[in-house]
Amino acid sequence: MIFFVTLQPMKKRAYIETYGCQMNVNDTEVIFSILADAGYERTEVMEEADLVMANTCSIRDNAEQRIWGRIEVFNQLRKAKPALIVGIVGCMAERLKDKLLDTRKVDLVVGPDAYRSLPRLLEAIGPESPQIDVLLSREETYADITPVRTDRNGISAFISIMRGCNNVCSYCVVPYTRGAERSRDAASIVREACDVYQKGYKEVTLLGQNVDSYLWKSETETVNFAQLLERVAAIAPDLRVRFATSHPKDISDEVIYTMAAHKNICRHIHLPVQSGSSRMLEKMRRKYDREWYLERVAKIREVMPDCGLTTDVIAGFCSETLQDHEDTLSLMEQVGFDWAFMFAYSDRPGTLANRTMPDDVPADEKNRRLNEIIALQNRKSLERYRAQIGKKLEVLVEGPSKRDPDMLCGRASNNMMCVFPAEGRAVRTLTEVEVVDCTSATLICK
Ligand code: 5AD
Ligand code: SF4
Repeated sequence: MIFFVTLQPMKKRAYIETYGCQMNVNDTEVIFSILADAGYERTEVMEEADLVMANTCSIRDNAEQRIWGRIEVFNQLRKAKPALIVGIVGCMAERLKDKLLDTRKVDLVVGPDAYRSLPRLLEAIGPESPQIDVLLSREETYADITPVRTDRNGISAFISIMRGCNNVCSYCVVPYTRGAERSRDAASIVREACDVYQKGYKEVTLLGQNVDSYLWKSETETVNFAQLLERVAAIAPDLRVRFATSHPKDISDEVIYTMAAHKNICRHIHLPVQSGSSRMLEKMRRKYDREWYLERVAKIREVMPDCGLTTDVIAGFCSETLQDHEDTLSLMEQVGFDWAFMFAYSDRPGTLANRTMPDDVPADEKNRRLNEIIALQNRKSLERYRAQIGKKLEVLVEGPSKRDPDMLCGRASNNMMCVFPAEGRAVRTLTEVEVVDCTSATLICK
């Protein structure tokens, strides 16, 4: 008797830790897709991996410091498993390039536009031959790659619509790590959104550094961000559409009216202000001033009074005076954001500020100002959340609440997190709840 045995090539396993922004989370999904072609499957257990990588962030110094610590941990692992490949990809790979290899601690350094070369680089790695590719591209958008979704719930998918950034905000390292702005083919975005909808996802978030400057030009058509939003919203009335990040200088009336015209485009705009002082905004090269920002907020609220607004704020940028800081506080008081990401200014090598402006606000004063900003925002968040009490909101049910597994949780259209009793409600459905109480970050509903 003859037995035929088919030998399946052993799959290798890849483990990736992701740091930084949501764009990076989506990039990790693209990387898993590329690695699948090279025979790697995803693992969430670092110890069983043949390849461990960190997808890194350079935006502030403390983000990079954390990653140096992780490289140490990966190398500890390598002691027990000498064949282990350790890789650094993403923004820090781009920024530090061969400096990372010089430390002799990593085998692989790959920048944000070079993920397609991963299979080739992995093949070429040897004990004495680490590999690097940090070429930035003017075209790469990974449009044809279907990301391997890494979210756990299968409800909300992130879709990159553009890469890079053409704004040269003087504090920001992104244009150097992610290169020039390029928009992805509109048809490929709509296809990906249709695909995730068919797979059961109920929400898509369109991602870009500055979504308002999205512009796709082909021989037959030109599509701007408002038109893209419209096309994605038209896929299905029960597919929620979100987007981030908007830029105050570019968010157009057309985008605001398009949101208002489609119930399934969520009523939430993340609109980073950075500072409330026009003098600081000028030094930051944000290309708008305080009045312009306040006018955009007024327009959004005129058209969509129920629109959630969140922001980013930087404390202690170069030459910031107490008056500039007061201007930030007064703008935050006036606008009343639902939530904010608040940072102390971190000097980043190579940026315009780093080259031309002294980082002259002492660290303890930066932190004092940051704490004042945080305290004000906590008070404002509570006010904004309290103002929802008594309202009925439509919520997308995501699953059990982390704090109380007997309750469910999900986000309202304005992006506020709600918790509510299950009472026969099903995960993945839209449901109506009534707000009865709140904290500064959660609405408690019935
Ligand atoms: N220092 C502090 N915060 C920064 N951000 C960007 N660069 C810096 C920096 N050098 C913040 C901005 C931006 C957010 C993503 O990170 O607020 O909107
Ligand atoms: Fe960090 Fe910016 Fe890179 Fe995102 S794009 S990972 S926020 S440096």
